[in-house]
Amino acid sequence: MTRKKIVAGNWKMNLDYAEGISLFSEIVNMVRDEKKGDQIAIICSPYLHLNSLAKLGGETVKIGAQNCHQNESGAFTGEISAKMIKSVGCEYVIIGHSERRQYFAESDELLAQKTVIALKNGLTPIFCIGETLDERNNGSYFEVLKSQLDHGVFGLDAADFSKLVIAYEPVWAIGTGLTATSDQAQEVHAYIRKEIAAKYGQEIADATSILYGGSANPKNAAELFAQPDIDGGLIGGASLKSRDFVDIVKTFN
Ligand code: G3H
Repeated sequence: MTRKKIVAGNWKMNLDYAEGISLFSEIVNMVRDEKKGDQIAIICSPYLHLNSLAKLGGETVKIGAQNCHQNESGAFTGEISAKMIKSVGCEYVIIGHSERRQYFAESDELLAQKTVIALKNGLTPIFCIGETLDERNNGSYFEVLKSQLDHGVFGLDAADFSKLVIAYEPVWAIGTGLTATSDQAQEVHAYIRKEIAAKYGQEIADATSILYGGSANPKNAAELFAQPDIDGGLIGGASLKSRDFVDIVKTFN
């Protein structure tokens, strides 16, 4: 079974408009010249940049948002809907990033609603799960991940679930320089795939791309991506440097 190989950058709340356009233009040119495989490169930018980036990226680099609101439209001052995101040419949206769970108190139930509305509007959710350092150290991480899957996405029917990308991001590895070892990451990715198989069957499990995120960089990407159940990465800090991001994309060449 060949799964889609995906490297998605998450710029988080970085780069003003001009800086974002400039970095993205560099990335598009470098990916166009240097990428050889058929992997998918995605940049998930702040909302402000999405419209322009979607027009610059074309088929070379796809665009994603970092969040969306759980309702279709209405009196939700300051919020952005999945329909708006789709309307400017975005194809992806990150849902359930640990920073949204932690700083904006987003629950599994809320994230389930966001996933449904994203799918309804034709976006591909990149659904994030991951354990904290305490949960890793006390050995409860499999239960934590299973609960995030159960309450976040396992309510979907098989047709909708099969449209998702899953990202495993151990919270203790995000922005810390502490990358999960390739063995630690592979163990969890294999577990996630096993749980998907138990819920939706082996065929859907084998076709689901599961990305690793957490201090991934050009030096460690090759070993991580060589693991049988790791299908790419969700890249934070290293996506803010064109050379680093494109070198991670090229890991699949
Ligand atoms: O969404 C990306 C992840 O939070 C990883 O961030 O690569 O800066 O650790 P990082």
